[in-house]
Amino acid sequence: MSEQHLNTQRVGRAFARSVATYDTHAVLQREVAERLLNHLEFVQIKPQRVLEIGCGTGYFTRLLRQRFNRAHLATIDIAPAMVVAARNTHPRRMPWSAKTSFAAADACHLPFADASFDLVASSLVMQWVNDPQQMLAEMRRVLAPDGLILFSTFGRRTLSELRQSLADFSHGHAGLILPFPDVTSLGDALMKLPVELPVSDSDLFTLTYADAMALVRELKGLGASSSGIRNRPAGLYGRRLLKHLDENYALKHSDADGRIHATFEVLYAQAWYAEAPRNYDHMIPIEQVDGC
Ligand SMILES: C[S@@+](CC[C@H](N)C(=O)[O-])C[C@H]1O[C@@H](n2cnc3c(N)ncnc32)[C@H](O)[C@@H]1O
Repeated sequence: MSEQHLNTQRVGRAFARSVATYDTHAVLQREVAERLLNHLEFVQIKPQRVLEIGCGTGYFTRLLRQRFNRAHLATIDIAPAMVVAARNTHPRRMPWSAKTSFAAADACHLPFADASFDLVASSLVMQWVNDPQQMLAEMRRVLAPDGLILFSTFGRRTLSELRQSLADFSHGHAGLILPFPDVTSLGDALMKLPVELPVSDSDLFTLTYADAMALVRELKGLGASSSGIRNRPAGLYGRRLLKHLDENYALKHSDADGRIHATFEVLYAQAWYAEAPRNYDHMIPIEQVDGC
């Protein structure tokens, strides 16, 4: 996975601006958070210390809190407004409330000592960090022996229709969509860490919208802005570009009933602590494991 040339502060500001609208639009994000946690169904783990990276408004935080109600849970996000939102929806009177801490911090520079957590989890954040390899290295650095890394991120096919429509407008405009990784490059990135038994799988979601503007509005409401992309062409919301999208997207990617569709590929991955990197040829996608 390559460095994406994102401006972290701008990414944080875009998410901070979306704090009031995020939950209205985050249907897919909630579904992914639930599916990510379901990956632990057959995993023997009773973490005492859990770290969540990129809490947003706190949906995944609450799932982790319920699942590991005896653990100390630390949660961080680059956008202070998101941290406040997550903290405000945290059930304060529960016995475990005192065991939860919230802080504004960058996934690529975690403010924690080495080996501080037994579970390091993150849902749909990695696509927004400037250097995913550094985020992974940080996740591993703060992981304690016997600990588990668990995360989801968007994959290469995400928003492929929008990327194509933007490219039809001008080649450079396709760069307004983040270069999401494929499962192989995600596996390669994990292989560089001292981890063992890395596993990945993916889900493909097709969402439909009344028109391309509804999709653009949703992305904006989620804080998924191109403003953090360095050297980007003129923004996604220029009038000429929006008109083009409105016509071009529907022409190429609409159903019989006239609704447009958008693909979202979600990659899930998990890996256990190891002292030194293991020599795997490549990560085994879950569907290729016999009996799965
Ligand atoms: C798509 S939201 C996901 C939020 C939440 N995990 C969920 O599933 O709803 C991405 C979150 O990552 C945060 N984020 C982006 N870049 C980050 C970074 N470098 N460090 C920490 N958090 C970051 C954003 O502020 C935002 O809250």
